[in-house]
Amino acid sequence: MSIVLERPALSETASPWWRSAVIYQVYPRSFADSDGDGVGDLPGITARLPYLSGLGVDAVWLSPVYRSPMADAGYDVADYRVVDPLFGGSEDADLLIAEAHRLGLRVVLDLVPNHTSAEHEWFRAALDSPAGSPERARYLFRDGRGESGELPPNTWRSVFGGPAWTRVNGPDGTPGQWYLHLFDDTQPDLDWTHPQVREEFEDILRFWLDRGVDGFRVDVAHGLIKADGLPDWDHEQELLDGSGPGGTRPPMWDQDGVHDVYRSWRRLLDSYDGERMLVAEAWVEPAERLARYVRPDEMHQAFNFAFLSAAWRPADLRVSIADSLEASATVGAPATWVLSNHDVVRHTTRLTLPADAPRPNGIGATDPQPDEQLGLRRGRAASMVMLSLPGSAYLYQGEELGLPEHTTLPDETRQDPAWFRHDGTVAGRDGCRVPLPWHADRPGFGFSPTGATWLPQPESFGRYAADVQEGDPASTLELYRRALRTRADLGLGTGELVSWAGSDDAVLAFRVRGSEGGEVLVMTNFGPEPAVLPAGAHVLLSSSPLDADGALHTDVTVWLAG
Ligand code: NOJ
Repeated sequence: MSIVLERPALSETASPWWRSAVIYQVYPRSFADSDGDGVGDLPGITARLPYLSGLGVDAVWLSPVYRSPMADAGYDVADYRVVDPLFGGSEDADLLIAEAHRLGLRVVLDLVPNHTSAEHEWFRAALDSPAGSPERARYLFRDGRGESGELPPNTWRSVFGGPAWTRVNGPDGTPGQWYLHLFDDTQPDLDWTHPQVREEFEDILRFWLDRGVDGFRVDVAHGLIKADGLPDWDHEQELLDGSGPGGTRPPMWDQDGVHDVYRSWRRLLDSYDGERMLVAEAWVEPAERLARYVRPDEMHQAFNFAFLSAAWRPADLRVSIADSLEASATVGAPATWVLSNHDVVRHTTRLTLPADAPRPNGIGATDPQPDEQLGLRRGRAASMVMLSLPGSAYLYQGEELGLPEHTTLPDETRQDPAWFRHDGTVAGRDGCRVPLPWHADRPGFGFSPTGATWLPQPESFGRYAADVQEGDPASTLELYRRALRTRADLGLGTGELVSWAGSDDAVLAFRVRGSEGGEVLVMTNFGPEPAVLPAGAHVLLSSSPLDADGALHTDVTVWLAG
């Protein structure tokens, strides 16, 4: 079957769509399974697109669906132009894009340029070729240190634990050079100073742009270029943490050379119609460094991970919001808010952890268990802060249901390479990747027709299933729908934060003005005492029901008109 890939007229407004878009991250293996093998797929997503347009989002971002041995859930790409059979075929991708566009939703793909899979044809050719060969030059092969090259070329550590270098045998079977992998040893890093690497990725961009996609989330955007000479760096890598002790910049992250790459990609995207966009996954601090990725001739957005990482305290949130708005304004870019994704503990769970504790890489059954009710209350309050802010916001699948992290996954079901590379001492990211509950009373909560799920779901997911939340005004799903509708009606995404209200240690309060007119006072109470709402306040939305006393209780956010 051939599908006509004409792009229907998605609404173009005075402000480009991505400046204020709410973008929903679909983690394909866990969204909806159509064929019953327990792994989500493209037809499953396509069938649920009406749910997403009904939620009120503007776009979907799909985590990688390319051919992959799935050593890192698809972030190890063996062929960037082919859909992995696990997810469907190439026609399924066309159908998904066409149906999304028909519903007025844009489609953003995940591009993984820092590394390929070890099964990519380039890497296979590199292994079959001698040191110094052109095949090896597209990756970062180096001779080892020590008398016979038995030590890694430098001291870098993999983000997933263990050394960042693996030694290979030469074609004659004797131990030879080492290759760099900032992640798993099945994910060799490309050498982005090599012209063929640049050409190849521009071609991959064109391939998908021609198929009609609206943009790309760029994986590890801060990692493509490494410091000259690959100098030693002895520190253990925190998960995707882009800065070193005392704010120093590690030699593998945020090197100035990455910006050249994004300038040429921007030119390429600008040569297409339809406001195509790029969003950087760059774990870079401070906000001024991150803003360099969204200068007018570079990417369009960069995830604001400082906001995601901010402690649940008014002062921390205020600083993170203000810094982000200020830094992005200096380059004319929108701020890009996010609270959850497939790499971090879901915010409904994370926000119950001690405020000063470092962000954990997963939670296991032997760790202290979170208070689910508290998490849901805080999670909803945090989301309502995020969705009131000017700029673009990303939702991670299931957060609109208030899903908690799965914190008691049996260890034998875990699949994150970080779990294995840390010898089971770090739980890793599987707990936020559990298949979604669609129907409370079906096997696998309706995730797949057979009830199969690639990771087990916790019992509690039944309470969160989409069908039980549908139409219940107190549900998280209806809260998100209301928030997205109000945000759109008032033009909050294209509005501005006009002032911080009050300086109370217990209350975060600020005024936003929507581009469609009218001001909204956003207030969140963090303190134990109820806060008083302004007299006569008209409540547009409240993250938890307000008591009859009309006061603002702990961990509740309200949007007030006027
Ligand atoms: C960031 C992705 O979000 C994560 O899931 C992946 O493991 C690493 N990059 C490596 O590609």
